[in-house]
Amino acid sequence: MEKMIVLDFGGQYCHLIARRIRELGVYSEILPYDSGIEILKTLNPKGIILSGGPNSVYEINSPKLHEDFFNFISKENIPVLGICYGLHLIVHHFGGKITPHDNKEYGKTELEIVDPNLLLQSLEKVEIVWMSHGDQVSMLPEGFKIYAKTKNCPIAAYGNEEKNLYGVQFHPEVVHTPKGNQILENFVIEIAKAKKEWKLENWIENTINEVRKEIGSENRVILGLSGGVDSSVTAVLLHKAIGDRLHNIFVNNGLLRKNEEIEVQETFREKLSFINFHYVDAEDLFLEKLRGVEDPEEKRKIIGHTFIKVFEKKTIELEKAYPDIKYLAQGTIYPDRVETSATSNSSAKIKSHHNLTLPDDMMLKIIEPLRDLYKDEVRKIGLQLGIPKEIIIRHPFPGPGLAVRIIGAIEKGRLEILREADTILISEIKKAGIYESLWQAFCVFLPLKTVGIMGDFRTYDYLCAIRIVESRDAMTANFAKLDWDLLERIGTRIINEVKGINRVVYDISNKPPSTIEFE
Ligand code: XMP
Repeated sequence: MEKMIVLDFGGQYCHLIARRIRELGVYSEILPYDSGIEILKTLNPKGIILSGGPNSVYEINSPKLHEDFFNFISKENIPVLGICYGLHLIVHHFGGKITPHDNKEYGKTELEIVDPNLLLQSLEKVEIVWMSHGDQVSMLPEGFKIYAKTKNCPIAAYGNEEKNLYGVQFHPEVVHTPKGNQILENFVIEIAKAKKEWKLENWIENTINEVRKEIGSENRVILGLSGGVDSSVTAVLLHKAIGDRLHNIFVNNGLLRKNEEIEVQETFREKLSFINFHYVDAEDLFLEKLRGVEDPEEKRKIIGHTFIKVFEKKTIELEKAYPDIKYLAQGTIYPDRVETSATSNSSAKIKSHHNLTLPDDMMLKIIEPLRDLYKDEVRKIGLQLGIPKEIIIRHPFPGPGLAVRIIGAIEKGRLEILREADTILISEIKKAGIYESLWQAFCVFLPLKTVGIMGDFRTYDYLCAIRIVESRDAMTANFAKLDWDLLERIGTRIINEVKGINRVVYDISNKPPSTIEFE
């Protein structure tokens, strides 16, 4: 399949570039900025995009391309598009000049095309684009033509058709550049001449065949099934490929939403006719290990380790009954992989989110059928595979579950309070018809007591926070500006119906600087 490559210079929109290209129907992958020539050769891309990034090309330690990069692309005649920092790198390499701009340009601005060209074809002479930069090109190297300018940026897009190099100072990948997709399409389809071969229907068929071939006709596979979108799609895909040689282990860690363990079992056992669905009730063990623990990272660590122990024990038990178990499947998706390697090299660890990997001594081969997919692609595939819509549209739920939604120590009573409040919130959000438009909606238990009055009595009960956010990928998020009446209904119901809560507050923080979860 023909591919495009995006080299990641640490820009926050790197994934967006790759996703936009896939939406055009062309497969795209993100690689670290300094990827070696051998890797590029093996992947044999039709075109390469250099992403934006926070650095300045003149900084000593700023990320640079592999030293043979430009020789390689010139020899192979691979077109390159530089976006923002990527554009500066091209200019810098060929002897042009980049200078810091006095007024940092940030936000929407008018772009005027000064020279008609293939990269900006089908655009009007003046279009809106989205800028975010401090540096800009002050002098182009020889052989480069100015394609477009803005009021503050005289060289906002350029090209060198002979060398097949192009650059845009603005961000075509963000929605605030209305014709951004057209520009990317011009580069990918018209300039790089990539064929539109990336179709999810083909992906399903090919993957099922590949997985079948790899696993063989006897071997069995173990999968940790949480009931979330990724593990559910992995399960159904594998079930289609190898039937009941797939063994699903569902661990109830006692930190799930109300009735979740019942609903997941019903879905897989009854609706999807899974026979090998192994339910492990480990609630008491998890709560025992978590008793008195207040620190969020400590909670995550304990939950992670306990999960591994429980999962390992069940696997060993199953291996005794089924010696053909040779594989461990995981619902890893593309951003999980890329975020743990290239992109996060330089970024500080905020929370230890990432999917847990099991110890090597389990001797199972890992199989990750969704490893190249984005979440929205996983969702589409899930629907095509016939997974009930309720599972596919579910909001993300963190691995440590309600443990990170109870501030401080976890107690059974607190979990019960939180579950009741959460159920009310979700049912009101669904009733209002907005569940699918929100990234996440949940309640948080705050171990703080405040005074209230109910009937003729003074109360002294706990505080519940409501967190509802809109987001595309959880990297950034805005609190949802919900209708006051709806918020009032939710708050009133929680206070009236959940014993132990007498006050509800709404979280109006965005990410960044806050995070989505409280812990
Ligand atoms: P934050 O709180 O970092 O969350 O803004 C971003 C997204 O990740 C989810 N999240 C987690 N998922 N294990 C997970 O599997 C975790 O420890 C964890 N912490 C946060 C969060 O729900 C949001 O969707």
